[in-house]
Amino acid sequence: MGFGNVMMAGSIVNSSTKIGNYCIVNTGASVDHDCTIEDYVHISPRVAVAGNVKVMEGAHLGIGACVKQNITIGKWSIVGAGAVVVDDVPDYTVVVGNPAKPIKTVTVV
Ligand SMILES: CC(C)(COP(=O)(O)OP(=O)(O)OC[C@H]1O[C@@H](n2cnc3c(N)ncnc32)[C@H](O)[C@@H]1OP(=O)(O)O)[C@@H](O)C(=O)NCCC(=O)NCCS
Repeated sequence: MGFGNVMMAGSIVNSSTKIGNYCIVNTGASVDHDCTIEDYVHISPRVAVAGNVKVMEGAHLGIGACVKQNITIGKWSIVGAGAVVVDDVPDYTVVVGNPAKPIKTVTVV
């Protein structure tokens, strides 16, 4: 665990997971074992992240999303509310739905 992180009520981070800096693990979210959460990531309420997932810098997982094990969420990408992520998400990409599919790219200014 780095610095400047906020772990909200009911959030769970499991064994051997590493969290960078300035992240939010929001209310009731769970991040399972052996994950890597890079800087500036926001994991919204009730998100479930399975084991060995990598969430790259600045990514946002929307409320209630699920991420299957061994997935990489690219930097500054957005996973829509309620999405079920079963494939890697490229950098700067918005995905929604079950299974989650890309709908647009993210412009970072
Ligand atoms: C995915 C998201 C970022 C897209 O926002 P946006 O860029 O403003 O996109 P739009 O609202 O214009 O939606 C674009 C299309 O995707 C659909 N869509 C948007 N969010 C969706 C979602 N979560 N699941 C399924 N479809 C979704 C819209 O219905 C729309 O479809 P259409 O083109 O057929 O009408 C946003 O809807 C979202 O889910 N944000 C997460 C917010 C959140 O979890 N906040 C919690 C903070 S604690």
